[in-house]
Amino acid sequence: MASSDAQSSLIFFTTSTLLIIFLIAPSFAQQSFPPKVLVAPVSKDASTLQYVTRISQRTPLVPLNLVLDLGGQYLWVDCDQSYVSSTYRPVRCRSAPCSLARSNSCGDCFSGLRPGCNNNTCGAIPDSTVTEMATSGEHAEDVVSIQSTDGSNPGRIVTDSTFIFTCAPTFLLKGLASGVSVVFFGEGPYILAPDRDVSKSLIYTPLFLNPVSTASAFALGDTSLEYFIGVKSIKVNDRVVPVNTTLLSFDSKGVGGTKISTVNPYTVLESSIYKSVTETFVKESAAMNITRVASVTPFEFCFSSKSMYSTRVGASVPTIDLVLQNGNMRWSILGSNSMVQVREGVLCLGFVNGCGKPRTSIVIGGYQLENNLLQFDLATSRLGFSSSLLALQTRCSNFNFTSNA
Ligand SMILES: *[C@@H]1O[C@H](CO)[C@@H](O)[C@H](O)[C@H]1NC(C)=O
Ligand SMILES: *[C@@H]1O[C@H](CO)[C@@H](O)[C@H](O)[C@H]1NC(C)=O
Ligand SMILES: *[C@@H]1O[C@H](CO)[C@@H](O)[C@H](O)[C@H]1NC(C)=O
Ligand SMILES: *[C@@H]1O[C@H](CO)[C@@H](O)[C@H](O)[C@H]1NC(C)=O
Repeated sequence: MASSDAQSSLIFFTTSTLLIIFLIAPSFAQQSFPPKVLVAPVSKDASTLQYVTRISQRTPLVPLNLVLDLGGQYLWVDCDQSYVSSTYRPVRCRSAPCSLARSNSCGDCFSGLRPGCNNNTCGAIPDSTVTEMATSGEHAEDVVSIQSTDGSNPGRIVTDSTFIFTCAPTFLLKGLASGVSVVFFGEGPYILAPDRDVSKSLIYTPLFLNPVSTASAFALGDTSLEYFIGVKSIKVNDRVVPVNTTLLSFDSKGVGGTKISTVNPYTVLESSIYKSVTETFVKESAAMNITRVASVTPFEFCFSSKSMYSTRVGASVPTIDLVLQNGNMRWSILGSNSMVQVREGVLCLGFVNGCGKPRTSIVIGGYQLENNLLQFDLATSRLGFSSSLLALQTRCSNFNFTSNA
């Protein structure tokens, strides 16, 4: 695994958010000493550009590398390949944990008895938001362990012996990263060297679910498990970019709106929005005497870095603002999050064209989240965001993983 470096992003989750990434984890909250915050390192996989985190599972414990997927429905793991654990227990159908997992199906399995193959189990449809494949699997419980933190350093290890997850077959792993940023589960403070409590720099915007699921397999009436925010307009260097505002909210089929994705490496914009944003960006960069150079796939708009200044927050390029729900609140995307260095001397605008008719008009991708602090607070349905931490003279990899204990 790569160690954490500049390519890290920081995502904090309040305790209830565990219910979303790892859909069912109430027993963490029920422990006698409730750990306030849990923490895990996150790294970027160089080949797939996905964000990977690490927790421990099973008896005896083995480390698991997990792809961080904000839109993921369950924690799911490959049970076909050498799943060995004395504490694996299938979840029975029609049991309380099964209804917690929002499943009402009963599964049987006709190959040999093993983890992932049991009778009368609570059925699951594990879903890879990366490849948009879904399959059937069984819900199960096993021991999971993860580190707690006081916000500054890692503390004691917290163990949940009945953590519910989904056992999936190997093929679902196709397209996922094999292979560190930081994830926190819980409320702040979140302290990054040099002693910055970055939780104090958060601005809040409402977080909502799409009334129509965006998963590859879902039942009628299911809401999305992905997080949406209300982008009202887009500005480049403070100039309003003309966009069809209908595309910025959902229609009755759940098409449209803006979501946050850790599995898309770069922000994807619906074609007409992409055209309009890039046109304004190119015009504004020309006004700043920034020299355009040939495209480098997958990017269309590339520039010579010699024609820009470099600043603490990346290259001096036009600022892209996502103007949110509340008119004067904006998520600012500065050079460090908009420009991707594709080779020596060439920086490209890290946005891609969502050709065709994408379900979601704006998908904010991983590169645009790097070194940003995001706090998903599901209890109050709001997203806290910081814009670039580089402006605060810190970065996500500055979390001190040295234990006090
Ligand atoms: C499940 O039950 C069926 C029918 O009784 C049986 O053929 C099969 O072997 C059982 N599967 C397991 C994993 O025990
Ligand atoms: C705006 O987008 C909506 C949804 O795709 C479309 O129905 C409408 O025709 C568009 N309006 C214009 C002026 O292009
Ligand atoms: C861009 O270049 C022109 C011509 O050299 C100059 O007049 C102008 O001040 C420059 N603009 C900026 C923003 O540097
Ligand atoms: C990290 O935390 C450990 C334990 O509290 C402490 O000894 C060490 O000085 C810290 N390192 C930095 C760079 O702050």
